[in-house]
Amino acid sequence: MATEKAVAELSETEAAQELAMLADKLARANAAYHTEDAPEISDADYDSLKRRNAEIEDRFPDLKREDSPSEQVGAPVSESFAKVEHSVRMMSLANAFADEDVRDFNDTVRRYLGLRDSDGGLAYTAEPKIDGLSLSIRYENGKMVSAATRGDGAVGENVTANARTIDDIPETIEGAPEVLEVRGEVYMSHADFEALNARHAETGGKTFANPRNAAAGSLRQIDPKITAARPLKFFAYAWGELSEPLADTQMGAIERFAKLGFQTNPLTRVCDGIDEMLAHYRDIEEQRATLGYDIDGVVYKVDDLDLQRRLGFRSTTPRWAIAHKFPAELAWTRLEKIEIQVGRTGALSPVARLTPVTVGGVVVSNATLHNEDYIAGRDAKGEPIRDGKDIREGDWVQVYRAGDVIPKVADVDLSKRPEDATRYAFPHVCPECGSEAVREEGDAVRRCTGGLICPAQAVEKLKHFVSRAAFDIDGLGAKQIEMFYADETLPIREPADIFTLEKRDAQNLARLKNRDGYGETSAKKLFKAIDEKRKTPLNRVIFALGIRHVGEVAAADLARHFNSWDAFTKAVDTAGPAAKLYIAAEEKVQQERQAAASEGRRAQVAQIRFAYWEARLAEEAKAAWDDIVGIDGIGATVAVSLVTTFQQEAERASIDRLAAELDVQDVAAPATSDSPVAGKTVVFTGTLEKMTRAEAKARAEALGAKVSGSVSAKTDLLVAGPGAGSKATKAADLGVETIDEDGWLALIGDA
Ligand code: IVH
Repeated sequence: MATEKAVAELSETEAAQELAMLADKLARANAAYHTEDAPEISDADYDSLKRRNAEIEDRFPDLKREDSPSEQVGAPVSESFAKVEHSVRMMSLANAFADEDVRDFNDTVRRYLGLRDSDGGLAYTAEPKIDGLSLSIRYENGKMVSAATRGDGAVGENVTANARTIDDIPETIEGAPEVLEVRGEVYMSHADFEALNARHAETGGKTFANPRNAAAGSLRQIDPKITAARPLKFFAYAWGELSEPLADTQMGAIERFAKLGFQTNPLTRVCDGIDEMLAHYRDIEEQRATLGYDIDGVVYKVDDLDLQRRLGFRSTTPRWAIAHKFPAELAWTRLEKIEIQVGRTGALSPVARLTPVTVGGVVVSNATLHNEDYIAGRDAKGEPIRDGKDIREGDWVQVYRAGDVIPKVADVDLSKRPEDATRYAFPHVCPECGSEAVREEGDAVRRCTGGLICPAQAVEKLKHFVSRAAFDIDGLGAKQIEMFYADETLPIREPADIFTLEKRDAQNLARLKNRDGYGETSAKKLFKAIDEKRKTPLNRVIFALGIRHVGEVAAADLARHFNSWDAFTKAVDTAGPAAKLYIAAEEKVQQERQAAASEGRRAQVAQIRFAYWEARLAEEAKAAWDDIVGIDGIGATVAVSLVTTFQQEAERASIDRLAAELDVQDVAAPATSDSPVAGKTVVFTGTLEKMTRAEAKARAEALGAKVSGSVSAKTDLLVAGPGAGSKATKAADLGVETIDEDGWLALIGDA
């Protein structure tokens, strides 16, 4: 760069601008070099950009960006490791922040298990939550055969060669089950981290922001020799596949790990009930600073493994464990500007652009401001928050981070408010497409009404479509989506375009393989990755559509219920007229309730519902609607959102274009096909005495049954406990088989 100014002469603004430009250039150069195998700039130019970046960061440490190139560990290596499918999913943990959350967790566990106060305290293990990265190591006949990172939980990266270089991980173990997957945390001690950084600083290598980054960067090295030179450690705390149980209790399993030669955390204790758990938490918190490695909370796990099995898992977290996080770290800084981002469902989200500040070892320059009420100093009920102080551009604000979540603005220092600061006027039009942005009653969020015409919504929808839990297409992430969305000759503007990309590319003069960041190989690789995803399971397809209120869990519930794309779309289409009438009827019900309240009489809800709903609705539409809202876990909110989305012409056409490109995979009944209830629709009613309703539902679903909340002609089986009312009568009318709880347990072999 001929016009380059000396670093010493740069103003702060110029420095920030240049750092942004350098981050961008270096990221592109990195991608071109490592991922696309097509370097764009010479090694010398690359080095000089990196040096310049380091010099500017040295002079303006506060401006160091979150995505600073000096923090990047070589390449985005994920592309370079083979993938390993975990035989048992690697789960994450739900979080608790306050003591109250831990009490709620304990209450929920006890309720799920149907424990009464008189049953006494429940034992939990409590142990530090290590701030590293998780690893699953597989042993067969006592020999280590593979090691994999967590990845997305289902598929991780094969880092076997690197794991073999870690001293705490034995190559062979004696007296272990035939198949044993040991899981735990790879981490770096404070002393090793500082020594590594000092060594790198001396030799001009990269330094790391914190021990966690250093551990992750070291484990995910292509060259195991580099990993071997980095002092990594490992604590064992969990397991995956086992050919036989390790013990009866969590603590027993940990002790077994120790006997097999693994390091286990010495602060692991069995606690008898909530008070002991919280006391141990305080104890660990007090020792935090002197442990010599980073921890970010305490993990509680139900000790009895039989109870763990009964409690089972939600979609990504176990019901039997929770992470109690240490309080968030805080810092004060200037809020420079409030900007509005438009999300996939049109939500206008205010973001605070901050003067960069370090919060707990990480440079923070953005924070969420939630919604317009939060900025104005009100909560969802209109009650004041922060004593009613509003947030303005130019304010001196307190920022905090809790775990991995996006930083938040907690407080404002009014004594430092600039005199000319004015109240923030939240926009009533979408800043991206100019459509009106409206706030529906009861909704905290203002939304752009532009739908598919809003470019921000379209891009966010596409990003969601390719995200991990949705289509998860290799080489097509958020960055590439933005690039293709803006592309004039080979655009991706809606999901179907992804699947016509190769065909359109072949007809194009400007071929993808000749473009920035792509070559022959990488273009082919992308087309192949896309092609592979034409066969995607129904639950992922439904989730990928990005319909408001239809999250991963609801999508899975719907997929399990309908099994196939055709059955799903037919039900949603048939229910079409019901959604409109339902909304209209509920509005009338609302009006009637208000009128009745002011007139001091009883509201005539049933009559209104009949007049505006049942009487006007075709039998078929009503049945389809009941079928959808009858699915356990799917309520009217989800159903209205789903059905009305399919009724919108433009949305529907876009979904149809997508479906035409796909071969949506039916959702096979999970678990054993020899299960007596696989594929059956089961309804539970009345009081269950040997298990709770939630447990019964989870168990039935694990056996491949669909659990519904209401009895209809589609119900195969009603499990009725004492006090069963109208559902039992209806089942009798319809001739649905009805059994009691013992009959159910006998049927599924749990008696
Ligand atoms: S147990 C099925 N125990 O925290 C439960 N996790 O936020 C598996 N972690 O992905 C996790 N220390 O990487 C467990 N003592 C501990 C842990 C721990 C750190 C990590 C782990 C997990 C993440 C979830």
